[in-house]
Amino acid sequence: MKCPIIAVTNQKGGVGKTTTAINLAQALALQDLKVLLVDLDPQGNATQGVGIRLETIQNSVSELIRDRTLPVDSAIHQGENLDLIPATPLLSRVEREMVALTNSELRLAQRLVPLRERYGLIVIDTPPTFGPLMNSALNAADRLIVPVDSGYFALMGIKELLVEVEEIQRGTNPGLQVMGYLLTLVDPTNIANQTFETLLANFGSRVFETKIRRSVKLREAPALGKTIFHHSPESVGARDYLGLAEEVLTRLGMGCAIVDAPRPNLALVSGSRMAVSHE
Ligand SMILES: Nc1ncnc2c1ncn2[C@@H]1O[C@H](COP(=O)(O)OP(=O)(O)O)[C@@H](O)[C@H]1O
Ligand SMILES: [Mg+2]
Repeated sequence: MKCPIIAVTNQKGGVGKTTTAINLAQALALQDLKVLLVDLDPQGNATQGVGIRLETIQNSVSELIRDRTLPVDSAIHQGENLDLIPATPLLSRVEREMVALTNSELRLAQRLVPLRERYGLIVIDTPPTFGPLMNSALNAADRLIVPVDSGYFALMGIKELLVEVEEIQRGTNPGLQVMGYLLTLVDPTNIANQTFETLLANFGSRVFETKIRRSVKLREAPALGKTIFHHSPESVGARDYLGLAEEVLTRLGMGCAIVDAPRPNLALVSGSRMAVSHE
């Protein structure tokens, strides 16, 4: 598949979607793939998590959806192998506008088509609610990664998500598939083990073998505007996301063993190629 588009999605908040989108995108970029990260959550957590500050953003995913004549490059912040289309709070207004526009939920997909020529892989971070933005991601994506947190009630909501996915598959995006379920926020409790067993019982080989452990470094990184590979490349979080990246590439048939240690110092830079500070 040429330049697969992967959406990280689960309409439950706080399950590690953004953490996964950012760090998977960076882990793949470290494998010499040119990766585009698209932030589709009005909260802009992925945008801030890779060090792009709100006040430096001129065009974002909002303008691309709103104005179909706007050059896509005007919204791309370039980094080293990892580029970003950011989100700002304007996106919640755009989502409300989308309700009244015919086929507006296909606009993101159309916007990403020409970008498939330029990137090896595109990752979309999604908002924690069903609505036009979530549907935009489901229409644009080839594959979904569904993070599931290792707590009680973790599987609640997955059925509803799958109903939405089937609806999109039957309609506008027949090629959409769930690539895998990812256990996140894993701590050394029985609950985490039980959740993993329940996932396996329900989804079998669709469950990623890699589990993302709960770690302080992963929690710290977004506040510093750094991926885990910039914040703490030797940490368990970095190892876990490299493991996920390897599984993702294998599942996409793009597999090659990930052997390289992550190269530090890969700053995401803004359009003007000014380095974002990550001292
Ligand atoms: N593996 C992890 N270890 C520690 N903290 C994590 C981990 N994954 C996510 N977090 C933290 O949990 C919170 C929710 O994660 P986030 O990725 O923003 O979830 P979502 O995008 O699904 O709402 C954030 O504060 C994030 O930093
Ligand atoms: Mg999020």
